[in-house]
Amino acid sequence: MNNDVLILAIETSCDETASAVVKNGREVLSNVIHTQIDIHELYGGVVPEIASREHIRRIDQVVAKALKDAGASLSDLSAIAVTCGPGLVGALLVGVSEAKAMAFASSLPLISVNHIEGHISANFIAFPELEPPFICLIVSGGHTHLVVVKDYCEYELIGRTRDDAAGEAFDKVARSIGLGYPGGPKIDACAKEGDPHAFEFPIAKVNGSPYDFSFSGLKSAVLNTLHNASQRGETIRPADLAASFQHSVVTVLTEHALAAAEEYGYDKLVLAGGVAANSCLRESFATACKKRKLGFYCPPPSLCTDNGAMIGAAAYYRFLKGEFAELSLNAIPNLKLI
Ligand code: KG4
Ligand code: ZN
Repeated sequence: MNNDVLILAIETSCDETASAVVKNGREVLSNVIHTQIDIHELYGGVVPEIASREHIRRIDQVVAKALKDAGASLSDLSAIAVTCGPGLVGALLVGVSEAKAMAFASSLPLISVNHIEGHISANFIAFPELEPPFICLIVSGGHTHLVVVKDYCEYELIGRTRDDAAGEAFDKVARSIGLGYPGGPKIDACAKEGDPHAFEFPIAKVNGSPYDFSFSGLKSAVLNTLHNASQRGETIRPADLAASFQHSVVTVLTEHALAAAEEYGYDKLVLAGGVAANSCLRESFATACKKRKLGFYCPPPSLCTDNGAMIGAAAYYRFLKGEFAELSLNAIPNLKLI
């Protein structure tokens, strides 16, 4: 008898329509992503209503391709998993409705997945040997969380952003420099030509909360620098601004995560989320972890940004616990990790 657990996963929380088939939580049989970036680029950011409509247009094709690429049919599956939050409510509803319809029609169990847990779980795909416990920094467009992953599905939140998420700061700063959307990858590329010490931007700390983050002051500092220069008729090299901003973000993320690993006594440090694709952040973590003899884990960039495979990986551990969702499952736009 074949005891393999095959999960079809669906992810539509923001601007990627994604679906994957994942075997036993760690092996990706297919991973299909239809990105809407070129559409939202026209507006300088994600337009929620357009995102929902585009998901509706694409979801059937994306799911069908995920099954085809995996060489699987519904009868081979053990469960259907879907991101139920956090995210844009209209966007989430498309994936949730698709998954519920498929689960109902095929009598397969339904698993609801927290998007942030999905990001963490991308590491289980990239590193088959990785097991909790570890410290994980999740940095995305919507979240900046420092978490102790005590066990599968068991988390302790030890730090979070008090205002903007790291990715949000990248996107807003990129817009102000005129780099366009999505800002993260554009700042990453532009910063390679710049001097990270051209401007000394604040490395923000939150009083009394050593692991919390704040990026709104840094964002304002970048804007003020731009305005002051334009009032004086001076020109600023965008690459210098991008590199100096990025340096500030990367420094505070690295310092907090390293301090947490030390204080809590964990020897593995894990990065996750779209901003974890940032080359400077990856390098900074890799160097710091090597120095302190900590294990460093970060998925390849394609598994850092939103995808279906990470949802299939997270769903596997819910499957093992027998945690299934009802067909009354709804989208929960502000769903918390814990
Ligand atoms: O995880 P993700 O795909 O979606 C959310 O869950 O939010 O993250 C998207 C965020 C965006 O803010 C994007 O600008 C940022 O990740 N991002 C990056 C890079 N690639 C994507 N930020 C910095 N450097 C990158 N290379
Ligand atoms: Zn995400």
